[in-house]
Amino acid sequence: MGNRKDDKRIAVLASGGDSPGMNAALRAVVRAALWEHYQVFGIQNGYEGLLHNEIRELTSRDMGLIINQGGTMLGTARSAEFQTREGLEKAARILHEHRIDALCVVGGDGSFRGLMELSEFYKGQVVGIPGTIDNDIPGTEYTIGFDTAVQTAVEAIDKLRDTALSHGRLFFVEVMGRNSGQIALSVALASGAEDVIIPEERTDVEEFAQRLEAGRKKGKRFGIVVVAEGAPLPREVERARVLRAEAPDPNVKAAIAPEESPAFAWAEVMRPRIGMNIRVSVLGHIQRGGRPTSFDRVWGSRTGDAAIRFIKQGLTGVFTAMRGGHITPAYLFEATRGVRAVEPEMVQLVRKMGS
Ligand code: F6P
Repeated sequence: MGNRKDDKRIAVLASGGDSPGMNAALRAVVRAALWEHYQVFGIQNGYEGLLHNEIRELTSRDMGLIINQGGTMLGTARSAEFQTREGLEKAARILHEHRIDALCVVGGDGSFRGLMELSEFYKGQVVGIPGTIDNDIPGTEYTIGFDTAVQTAVEAIDKLRDTALSHGRLFFVEVMGRNSGQIALSVALASGAEDVIIPEERTDVEEFAQRLEAGRKKGKRFGIVVVAEGAPLPREVERARVLRAEAPDPNVKAAIAPEESPAFAWAEVMRPRIGMNIRVSVLGHIQRGGRPTSFDRVWGSRTGDAAIRFIKQGLTGVFTAMRGGHITPAYLFEATRGVRAVEPEMVQLVRKMGS
């Protein structure tokens, strides 16, 4: 551990899916730590890199020219080995060998779960900084990268709308978010979509078709439906999948192949039901990249700095949560309890505005 009481050695890593603004958080951790005269070490490639001893000391200059860059300058990874007891013990051993007093992890709920498990073997302080485009972590109103991802998707939809309008088409646009509808809801609202399909809601095929048909009858010639990647499939597609799994008979044909996305599935079942020309667009990983918005840079900087403040205060097992717009320490276990709920008003608002 550090030589003097105030002479800490801090390590930082990014874990899980990258998100725009993570670099601002890493930069802030490093510079705030140096401000306190701590030594800072960057771990490449997340927990996987930790297991491979990929640790190097960072200076303030290492953090230059990254605040405006997407991705993460330390790299990131998902590690299977880290999820084993042996992996956790090895990771703790490596941290102890490097005399690391505190570990900061920028990542999502899976990364926080890993951090909690690690702290059973690692004796130093652990602090999480929520960073994921999904904004799905319970206990915090915001995770770094969400604003940029939403902006990227909205810009893509603005382009899709041009061609939707020219051809009189209805686009089903699939956005990321894993099991959460947060991205889909904000994207739908900000892009003026007609409707949204999210994991938190069971969408009825016929009711949905009626809503779209009603819009068409009111004169809507084109439109956008935002579909979250984790949204449930239409019941008939789910049934077809079950049939196919139970009886892999070549005569039992489903409309949708199992590997296809909810946006394709919903487009497929709507085609025979509504009189509109339908197309599908899956935005995918494009939402994870690009220059972070100023909000993500500011929040990344503030939470990176707060992580060092929490360490200085002697806190451990906490993350930098946003509550009422302010930063506060919250226990890591809070972040690992399911998926942050969506606001029902948001769902209604999308439909009201898209009507
Ligand atoms: O958690 C961020 C996220 O981009 C999710 O929205 C998505 O489901 C997942 O990661 C994709 O993971 P991968 O990059 O491993 O394909």
